[in-house]
Amino acid sequence: MPRVTYVQPDGSRETFDLGAGKSLMLAAQSNGVSGILGECGGQAMCATCHVYVDSRHLDRLPPMSEEEDVMLEDVASERKPSSRLSCQIELTDELDGIELHVPEEQVW
Ligand code: FES
Repeated sequence: MPRVTYVQPDGSRETFDLGAGKSLMLAAQSNGVSGILGECGGQAMCATCHVYVDSRHLDRLPPMSEEEDVMLEDVASERKPSSRLSCQIELTDELDGIELHVPEEQVW
């Protein structure tokens, strides 16, 4: 069962043992993690599920689609090399231990 940590901008951390198969956006929502809005429901159309992925896990992520890349150009907080849309990342056992940093802003 993969373990995921969500880190808020103030440094507070929440860690969950989660079942594989859900997106990291839905996993956050179902556990009450604040700051991951997911307004489009996971369709890569809103960019309100933006997260910064810790560098140790970047190379284990699925490749970014063109749609995700385009949406990341329109995020409310700075886009960084570690930026991803959490709705586009399915939680798998390979991502055990991943840390996701929630940006300061998700909405313009
Ligand atoms: S939930 Fe809308 S882009 Fe991820």
